[in-house]
Amino acid sequence: MKDWPYSVFPTGWYQVGYSSELQPGDVRPVKYFDQDLVLFRTESGEVSLLDAYCRHLGAHLGYGGKVKGECIECPFHGWLWTAGGGLSEIPYAPGEQRRVSIDRLQTREVAGLILAWYDSFGREPFWEWPGIPEFLDEENNYPITLDHVGVRKIIPQSPVENTPDYYHFMWVHGAGQPGKPLLWKEDQHYLHTRVGFVYGHGKKATWMTPNGPVFGEIETEAWGLGLSNARFVLENFITNQLTAATPVDREHSQLFETITVNRQPGEPEPTGRAARMIEFQKGQIRRDFAIWENQRYVEHPPFAGGEEEHYARFRRWSKQFYSDQPYTANAQIAAA
Ligand code: FES
Ligand SMILES: [Fe+2]
Repeated sequence: MKDWPYSVFPTGWYQVGYSSELQPGDVRPVKYFDQDLVLFRTESGEVSLLDAYCRHLGAHLGYGGKVKGECIECPFHGWLWTAGGGLSEIPYAPGEQRRVSIDRLQTREVAGLILAWYDSFGREPFWEWPGIPEFLDEENNYPITLDHVGVRKIIPQSPVENTPDYYHFMWVHGAGQPGKPLLWKEDQHYLHTRVGFVYGHGKKATWMTPNGPVFGEIETEAWGLGLSNARFVLENFITNQLTAATPVDREHSQLFETITVNRQPGEPEPTGRAARMIEFQKGQIRRDFAIWENQRYVEHPPFAGGEEEHYARFRRWSKQFYSDQPYTANAQIAAA
């Protein structure tokens, strides 16, 4: 597999859906991490993500499985499995128990997203995703826009690797000049940066900068390689765009974009500049996708123009998520 830098999926939290799109009783067949899975919500509201195959005779629970109370009922012979993957009942042999269970992936619901934990060693989650504050604050921000991009030939590292790439803005996003690094801070699985930008560089007026160029910022945050947010700050016009890339197989990921803009005076719904910004950002990220899905991973690039400084730091930071790498990435970063 030439395009994948390592042999396993990176450890971390990944988006597998949106809370608002999985109601109590909903059952969905899904595929992530090279595994067939079933995602469902029990009647009380608990989300569960289980290996898809019933331990009795292997029916796929995502095709015809039904939520019964806190369990999922297999479509083949009606065995009932709990949200935790335990065998609750064999309906035609009520007194009998079998020592079998179905593997469960840990899930969370944070800021409107459903997340699943993946670790190739099977370790329990050792960090949590704090969410994007703006996604929860509908008083000051419009409700989140859900952009289902779908499955693309992209690996999760590619979107996050935009973080140290200050020059690509000129070619991929039409910026008049490269970004200017203002902050680079690693804290274990968390990477926080700020990049300075002149919006509307060299132009008298644009729809984004009607009063002429504005010195603004892109604040980026990444939690592992599955979730990364960009906060575009143009004075008090603030857009958050979360990119979630969840491996489906070795070469493909399911991509979700979640966007919100802060409420603009006189616009109960995003209509004017806010609506335009949402569409603009959807379009901008698709320009990146076109690069990433056709890109080959280069392990030792011939860097130029000072780009190696943060690229090298990024590559060291990213190694901690691949458990086939020696687990020393954090130690190296601390010493650097
Ligand atoms: S295969 Fe699921 S109950 Fe038989
Ligand atoms: Fe980009």
